[in-house]
Amino acid sequence: MQIIKHPNYIYNLTQKWRQENQQIGFVPTMGALHEGHLSLCNKARQENQKYITSIFVNPTQFAPGEDYEKYFRPFERDCELLRAAGCDAVFAPDAAQMYDAHSSTKVSVNGLTSLWEGAVRPTHFDGVTTVVSKLFHLVPAHRAYFGEKDYQQLKTIQRMVRDLNFPIEIIPVPTVREEDGLAKSSRNAYLNPAERQAATVLYLALQSAVKLAADGEKDIKVLLDAMQKVCALEPLFQLDYAAIVDTETLQPLHDLQIHPARALIAGYIGQTHLIDNCGIEG
Ligand code: PAJ
Repeated sequence: MQIIKHPNYIYNLTQKWRQENQQIGFVPTMGALHEGHLSLCNKARQENQKYITSIFVNPTQFAPGEDYEKYFRPFERDCELLRAAGCDAVFAPDAAQMYDAHSSTKVSVNGLTSLWEGAVRPTHFDGVTTVVSKLFHLVPAHRAYFGEKDYQQLKTIQRMVRDLNFPIEIIPVPTVREEDGLAKSSRNAYLNPAERQAATVLYLALQSAVKLAADGEKDIKVLLDAMQKVCALEPLFQLDYAAIVDTETLQPLHDLQIHPARALIAGYIGQTHLIDNCGIEG
């Protein structure tokens, strides 16, 4: 497995593989890898002849006061995991290599990004779409893998790729969970044991809506009430939002009859912000 820091080198390597007619997968990450990331890697390995993982804690998607500085960076361990997962190359640039000192261009997706996570983190998605555009230029892969865990991010990247004609296919990968349903996340490491136990509330709330819909309930208010009731039973959880939305526009739905739907939830356990989502089959 090659470890490459310089943007020109990763570009040259990817181009060389393309010229050899190799299919190339790409898994963008910020490191601190867990089984969620590794399931993206496994899919990338199965569907391509070569795959590249990037590890870059992107400063532009963190607002001042968020966890950029204290973001966990276990680089050696991440490389071990990637080697074991059959990764062909790791792209791990420095912030100064990714962003020129006079950098003044950004990529913004309107609409989708002002909702939900974007409402509380107004600069976050511009940081994500800008860095992912840069990464797609530096790693001209055939396919890129994104987790459904970050559903709004996935939908925003799909929109960006369609709108700007990036020649890359976005492959969604289902959320990997702990045994009790908590979605795997680097942020779970911030939880103390009591908080960790409380954190299952997000999944329980989502499941209450999933089950009602599977039993034929069509009234969105009933689904939302059920989610809110589950949340209210957990004193350590401070709910930000619970919503049933259209899978493409992420706008709240009023009716389950016509749309494919997704349940979204986010909130704080102590200082830690957690998000999750599930598909709703009406
Ligand atoms: P990061 O949080 O490291 O996540 C990298 C990828 O792993 C994302 O596509 C995310 O959705 C996926 N992922 C995380 N937890 C998962 C889980 N439990 N199951 C399945 N997939 C999971 O998301 C980012 O980094 C950044 O915003 C990035 C796209 C790299 C741009 O900086």
